[in-house]
Amino acid sequence: LDEGYQKTYQKFDEIYPTLPKRDDWWGDGLGAGQFVQYQGFWIPSGALRGVMLIHDHFKPRPTDIILSTSPKCGTTWLRALIFAVINRNSYHFDDNHPLLSSNPQDLVAFLEGHIQQGGSTSFLETLPSPRFLSTHLPFSFFPNSMTSSAASACRFVYICRDPKDAFVSMWHFMNKLRARQEMPPLPIEHAFDLFCTGVSLNGPFWDHHLGFWKASLESPNMVLFLKYEHVKRETSASVRKIGEFLDLPFSAEEENEGIVEKIVHLCSFENLSNLDVNKNVNEEKQRGHLIKNPEFFRKGQVGDWMNHLTHEMAKVLDQITKENFQGTGLNF
Ligand code: A3P
Repeated sequence: LDEGYQKTYQKFDEIYPTLPKRDDWWGDGLGAGQFVQYQGFWIPSGALRGVMLIHDHFKPRPTDIILSTSPKCGTTWLRALIFAVINRNSYHFDDNHPLLSSNPQDLVAFLEGHIQQGGSTSFLETLPSPRFLSTHLPFSFFPNSMTSSAASACRFVYICRDPKDAFVSMWHFMNKLRARQEMPPLPIEHAFDLFCTGVSLNGPFWDHHLGFWKASLESPNMVLFLKYEHVKRETSASVRKIGEFLDLPFSAEEENEGIVEKIVHLCSFENLSNLDVNKNVNEEKQRGHLIKNPEFFRKGQVGDWMNHLTHEMAKVLDQITKENFQGTGLNF
């Protein structure tokens, strides 16, 4: 182990016992069991060492594309859309396209997932450029070389979502993980209290959004900030925007061939969620996966919170959102 890594490991050993801890939402489902509060965010305890390694040792490349999301805000969709945009000349949309036979999680390297497993950043260094990575880490957890405003160390695409829908999605998702371990479902009132006080996966939810929102205002060439609700309403326009942001704008010829619409269709909830690879669990292929392919898909709609939250809960969440985003220009 080189000296740099040792320093991070040592820092981790020192700091870990001192950090606030809380039960997480899912028991041991994600190999953790607890959240630890680190630099303002609630991180699965088992992930913290990797998180610290990323901060100290991850080496960004100018060609990197990093999809950043708070969990349940549209990671799967954006993994698919960005993959389809950047690889649009390599495959046929209705024939040999990897998205027809693989879940997006198998086509994009999950940053903190790889570091947790390997205990080092070396796997990521073996990936050829341009790398397309996905992460749930808050903006402030990246190395200073990436987050200082003058930097153009890499490009981030961020997607945010109405906290009410994101919460409902998270609650359903965590209950699926709990069921797998034969744990009873988490009552929605209990999950709601945790979410509102910031105790959720990589939460507080609002702070996660704000980190990337502020960065996108300061450095619009480094951070593209998208909204689930907007991408849902204007998917083709969003795909064009992603293309432009990544310096891969759609040519007139591609427009004539309807490539944008082909990407939109391929990555739609209806299409992806009905593919064999996403409908069924192939035990052999998905053995190493914490999250099974079908678990990434539920309804894929805007406003499903209405079916789950009381009027009072919705009011409380809206109020918290208003307070957190006041004066920032971000709203829902
Ligand atoms: P719901 O639970 O509201 O249905 P993530 O991918 O970040 O884990 O987010 C999961 C949420 O995105 C789920 O929301 C899921 O159904 C939805 N989703 C998955 N694939 C989608 C797609 N292709 N288009 C739109 N939404 C999608």
